[in-house]
Amino acid sequence: MPKITFTLDPQNRISQLDPRLFGSFIEHLGRAVYTGIYEPEHPQATKEGFRQDVIELVKELGVTTVRYPGGNYVSGFNWRDGIGPQADRPVRLDYAWISKETNQFGIDEFARWCEKTGVEPMIAVNLGTGTPQEAGYFAEYCNHEGGTTLSDLRIQHGRKNPYNFRLWCLGNEMDGPWQTGQMNAREYAHKARETAKILRCVDPDVELVACGSSSAQMTTFPEWDRVVLEELYDYVDYISCHQYYENEGSETDFLASFVNMDNFIETIVSTANYAKALRRSDKNMMISFDEWNVWYLRGDPWDAPFKDKNNRFPVAPPLLEDKYSFLDALVVGGLLCSLLNHADRVKMASLAQLVNVIAPIFTEEGKGAIRQTIFWPFEMVASVARGCVLQHHLPVPTFSSKYGEARMVQSAVIHNPEQKELIIFALNCDFSQSWALDINLAAFGRTRVREHSVLRSDDLYAKNTFDQPERVKPESIPHNGTIELPPLSWSRIIIAIE
Ligand code: AHR
Repeated sequence: MPKITFTLDPQNRISQLDPRLFGSFIEHLGRAVYTGIYEPEHPQATKEGFRQDVIELVKELGVTTVRYPGGNYVSGFNWRDGIGPQADRPVRLDYAWISKETNQFGIDEFARWCEKTGVEPMIAVNLGTGTPQEAGYFAEYCNHEGGTTLSDLRIQHGRKNPYNFRLWCLGNEMDGPWQTGQMNAREYAHKARETAKILRCVDPDVELVACGSSSAQMTTFPEWDRVVLEELYDYVDYISCHQYYENEGSETDFLASFVNMDNFIETIVSTANYAKALRRSDKNMMISFDEWNVWYLRGDPWDAPFKDKNNRFPVAPPLLEDKYSFLDALVVGGLLCSLLNHADRVKMASLAQLVNVIAPIFTEEGKGAIRQTIFWPFEMVASVARGCVLQHHLPVPTFSSKYGEARMVQSAVIHNPEQKELIIFALNCDFSQSWALDINLAAFGRTRVREHSVLRSDDLYAKNTFDQPERVKPESIPHNGTIELPPLSWSRIIIAIE
């Protein structure tokens, strides 16, 4: 078995890790909300109508933030439709997903769900059909103490204390032709700047995210980002990145998706640094990678409702319900390493999405919920990765991919001095052989391997189903002196510092 010999040193830090890197996303789309997180008729529903089984799985997954209510949905969303007595709420057409929105779940329900689940809300405002003024009213309803019509309305609806939501996204994917109210970069920057001024006036403690490119494949990338960053540099704290990956026929290319994510992040960092220099600013713009995942975009019949003339605008139709394979989980593992290794600039990220819609958690209406394969790499990282990300170099060969040369083993290393542990995550992309890690840990004193868990399978296309919900799940490897990364596997190694 070939060896990878390398050294780790606690002084070689990339950055302190922000736990907001382990965020996710719930959109009013398909069955994410209705029969996903909210199902009052479900046998395990809480008194508020939330699915308790799903709350437990979200906690287990280790999610820290949840972006809401979209996504494309937000660009036609009117926050006022989802407040007050549920019986009085209007039913609307959703232009993004050609569905009917009953508004039985709105901002107050979402805030309560977040409190119960222990996650931080990340709220998106409508900059498609919406206005800066309406965004301000929305923030006033949510974050103002009381004594104004809108904040008193919140109190009347049962919530005395303001929610004090910190994270606000200034629209969603406004560069996309599919977006309701698409704009060019200057138009967007102007609208986003005026919205930012109002939001900061309503609540000076908000943290604001500007829309970056919807993907690195956009023809306007990275010019969109340059213009938006130049115009908004002093007004926002983060620029967003969105990117989805799918297996287009070559498993090798698909495994190398992390190369594309690395390049995307590094391009946005360079663009942001250029805008910083132009502005003569001393602030570093941070990245919110607030949509990332595997998504079989080509195969998803999300436009089916357009075609069914007899049933246009169904309520909560099953949309984007991708069933993930073991190979998809490996790719997600590689992408997680890429996010961790850029923790100096990527401070937040959202796995898109959380339940039913391209999601790690999958439910059946009235019945159970399962962990999809991609649940596992995320859980294996989010449940333990706290502390500092360390720089390291694995001397491994590369393989060619459509994204460029990719390391055979993609990895990330975390040092958690409080827990006295080192954690190594590693994706072995080698189809045929194991690689052994031979690590020089002299700088840490006495150490011992406490745990090595691995996700592996004989079948790259194995999936978890309701009949076989645990077909793909991590297993513990007994430590016999060698840290072995099996072929095509995702590993977590925890080393105790004694
Ligand atoms: O996550 C699904 C969709 O992907 C989101 O609504 C949109 O922002 C992106 O294009």
